[in-house]
Amino acid sequence: MRVSHKNRIQGPKHFLSVDDFTIDEYKKLFLDTATIKAEWQNSTHEIFIPCENKRTLVSLLFTQPSTRTSGSFEKAAQALGCNVTTLHVSSSSIAKGESYRDTAMMAGLAANVLVVRHKGKEGTLQRLADKIFPRHDALRNVAIVNAGEGTGEHPTQALLDMYTIHEKFGNIKGLRIGVYGDLKYGRTTHSLLRLGSRFGAQFVCISPEDLSMPKRHLQYAANFGPKPTCTKNIHDVINELDVLYVTRLQREYRPDKLHHEPKEKISGYGVTPKLLKLFPKHSVVMHPLPRLDELPTECDKDPRVIIVSQAYNGIMARTALLRYILQCAKGASFRP
Ligand code: CP
Repeated sequence: MRVSHKNRIQGPKHFLSVDDFTIDEYKKLFLDTATIKAEWQNSTHEIFIPCENKRTLVSLLFTQPSTRTSGSFEKAAQALGCNVTTLHVSSSSIAKGESYRDTAMMAGLAANVLVVRHKGKEGTLQRLADKIFPRHDALRNVAIVNAGEGTGEHPTQALLDMYTIHEKFGNIKGLRIGVYGDLKYGRTTHSLLRLGSRFGAQFVCISPEDLSMPKRHLQYAANFGPKPTCTKNIHDVINELDVLYVTRLQREYRPDKLHHEPKEKISGYGVTPKLLKLFPKHSVVMHPLPRLDELPTECDKDPRVIIVSQAYNGIMARTALLRYILQCAKGASFRP
């Protein structure tokens, strides 16, 4: 089991799993995010220390589609005064058969931070960070950020989600958070469960049996926080939750025969205005987006549905994260 928040080694400040940062680091990031958000909204931008070195570069490599993560990292990097390049798979030499590993190395060249979304096998980014990049002078100081890896983790999403929950409630410990939907393939819920448990939140995993939360994440949560509970029926818990975190079906990861028939496998799944009548008044509904029909737009009228401010916080939290990673690298000898 990864416990790298306890066993970190020197080197670039990678963020590959929520396990990579300590709780103190998250608390600092929450404070920084709140400050950045206030400054951004006042349009003063005083806290943004424009990159003194005009060559500071954030490189984005996305081999899966993205609206929020890629867009918010671009906005965050630009707000910090960094240069930004984005490489999309359709316009890269992957289309000619180049390997993912070679593509990632090229995307990392001359960058301070490489932000990567990867559809493939979980652990690929860890291997890049541990084995591949350190072999090359031109790459060994590049910090790698996981912007969503296969069915594994999406740590920067958990950062913004946890910040949003903290912003709303002022604390996290003791909150009851229901993660609802496709918990088997949904990487956002894996990271949220791992991180939220470390903060002391009590998780309820709500899903059909064949889409349940992988055991290793449940085990991790139980080791580092309150033991999660699981149910198939949202009605069992809806009136007890502080946060309902809804996710879409990850159709792209499902076996072929289920690919086009998700509703048959998960009938009755989703949020409706009728269901929200059972939801406590103080509570909030979150969703990492994109959504399908599990959270219909008619629910958006309910002020407890905070998906837009959640996504907005993504820009702020990623600005804080990039700034922190760049600050950690400052003073390192590799930059002129
Ligand atoms: N939540 C999220 O990762 O959205 P994108 O796929 O649009 O980046």
